[in-house]
Amino acid sequence: MFVIGITGGTGTGKTTALETVRELGGEIIDCDEVYHGLLASDKALLAAIEAAFPGTVEDGVLLRKKLGQIVFGDEGKLLKLNGITHGFVKKEVERLLAEARRAGKTLAAVDAIALIEGGLGALCQATVAVCAPEETRVRRLMAREGVTEEYARLRIRAQKSEDWFRQHCTVTLVNDGSREEFAEKCRRCFEALPGEVQSMSMETMEKLESGVRSYSRAFPVEFTRAKMSRMYAADGRAYLDFFDGAGALNYGHNNDYIKERVLAYLADDGITHALDMFTGAKATFFEAFDRRILRPRKLSYRIMSCGPTGTNAVEAALKLARKVTGRTGIFALTGSFHGMTLGSLAVTSGVDHREGAHAPLFFTTFVPHPGAVGFDTIDYYEWLLTDNYSGVEKPAAFIIETTQAEGGVHVAPTEWLRRLRKLCDEQGVLLIVDDIQVGCARTGTYFSFERAGIVPDITVMSKSIGGYGMPFSLVLLKPELDLWLPGEHNGTFRGYQPSMVAAKAGIEVMLNDRAEERARRAGERIGAFMENELLPMDPRLAARGIGCIWGVDMAAFGPGKAKAVSRKCFENGLIIELAGRDNSVVKLMPQLLISDAELDEGLSILKAAVAAVIA
Ligand SMILES: Cc1ncc(COP(=O)(O)O)c(C=O)c1O
Repeated sequence: MFVIGITGGTGTGKTTALETVRELGGEIIDCDEVYHGLLASDKALLAAIEAAFPGTVEDGVLLRKKLGQIVFGDEGKLLKLNGITHGFVKKEVERLLAEARRAGKTLAAVDAIALIEGGLGALCQATVAVCAPEETRVRRLMAREGVTEEYARLRIRAQKSEDWFRQHCTVTLVNDGSREEFAEKCRRCFEALPGEVQSMSMETMEKLESGVRSYSRAFPVEFTRAKMSRMYAADGRAYLDFFDGAGALNYGHNNDYIKERVLAYLADDGITHALDMFTGAKATFFEAFDRRILRPRKLSYRIMSCGPTGTNAVEAALKLARKVTGRTGIFALTGSFHGMTLGSLAVTSGVDHREGAHAPLFFTTFVPHPGAVGFDTIDYYEWLLTDNYSGVEKPAAFIIETTQAEGGVHVAPTEWLRRLRKLCDEQGVLLIVDDIQVGCARTGTYFSFERAGIVPDITVMSKSIGGYGMPFSLVLLKPELDLWLPGEHNGTFRGYQPSMVAAKAGIEVMLNDRAEERARRAGERIGAFMENELLPMDPRLAARGIGCIWGVDMAAFGPGKAKAVSRKCFENGLIIELAGRDNSVVKLMPQLLISDAELDEGLSILKAAVAAVIA
């Protein structure tokens, strides 16, 4: 069965979309009446509003200034009316869907607005939103109902915006042409929708897959779809994602803007594989990265694309530092994580990861993270580097994460970063910043080191640089360090072209959707939640973070408590991971474009889980 839900405001072309489904041989399970009866007939709706919140409706118009208690969300979503309207819509739609399932319909369309409202969008294999630009909707409403422009705007704004649909639906169809053009658009859209996702049983996966798998143990369901902040399981359950591909999905799952560009590139037979040959995709990405990211920050870096994983870029950075300085040693911080291949593992501190090497890991001096000890670590590093009796040879490089993510969310102080930069300069040691997990605006600036006003000699990027969860990694190196010989570090999948297309679109999303500012704002909201709601629950709780990466430290409660919180969250529809020593930190990494409502939803699930576990 392939169920699609069609959703949209009134007068935006839903009927055309539904008719197209019928033309394509689909069965229509239309709960139009249920929906329109509630949301579109103002009289009933306004009467309900007035009855619930007296004084908010005057002469048939909703008075926004009197709506303090009704609470409109950012996009005009009515938040407090759920009880009045959506409760029974949800039930009705659930009933219709159950009917469709029982009947084994092959293609069915339902009106999905209520499904989405009820958090049940995943019951549909694909939710297609139909909307028209605001201006068009206003004009149509005025023409259809003879209302004033002011009133039309009020009503349209109280409905869902195009952005809202884009966030919540698999596909958003914009109805901005004639009826025929729009019908054609619908046809192409429905034909392009994927068929039913085949559900492979979990037992089969468990039998076939190596014991090395880990996340499927923490989150043991089969995921089939995802959109922005949500992932959907095969059984239709929706999960809010605060894990975010360990930082690979800063701009959300299946971000429409990036998706369209990647699809267009593939549809056009753009080059997919090209090693490091010159290509249009590479030229456009490099140009955009230089012009829109590097130059505005006065950064002059050469760009090297490595094998597509973060660890490969770390390996390249370490090789280069050794080559340039002629030294072998590396300084790394306690609590560090830089990847799972041997060179990266050598600079990774966790013993469980290191043991997995089953081979000696050489040439690293681990020095204390500033948050780990009570003394001045910069003075200590300086002493190690300058005292003839310290027994430590001068290293090629010092590799750091400005915020240790896997290490348990430890934010290095800004002044410490400045002093470290100065020390490295004085000692002729290269500074490598690993921005793989906390780069691409996660901490509130595109590069995580910007808050300290420093420039690393080498910066390593991966994860969200691929824009769409695409495999991609980069080493950014100061031009004077570019002593590489042709092919001296290489890899068959370096510079994977669709990733470059996604990476360029990712930069555009980052800038257009103000991801840095939104990460900072989300960080303030999470910080306030920690201070006012979570930490007061128990003095043994600790919280740390910056921008859109936060950790709740439960080490003081003994082993297993953070894991129990993550498990409880998952039961209640929130995906959240662990980090730090003995996995004692619950790590929050929502996507940067998350709405306040979704953020609050996740935080309240987290709070309830912590409360239950520590009770
Ligand atoms: C800071 C940091 N460096 C390196 C890596 C390794 O990246 P990958 O898993 O893509 O090899 C990670 C992965 O989590 C990371 O967080």
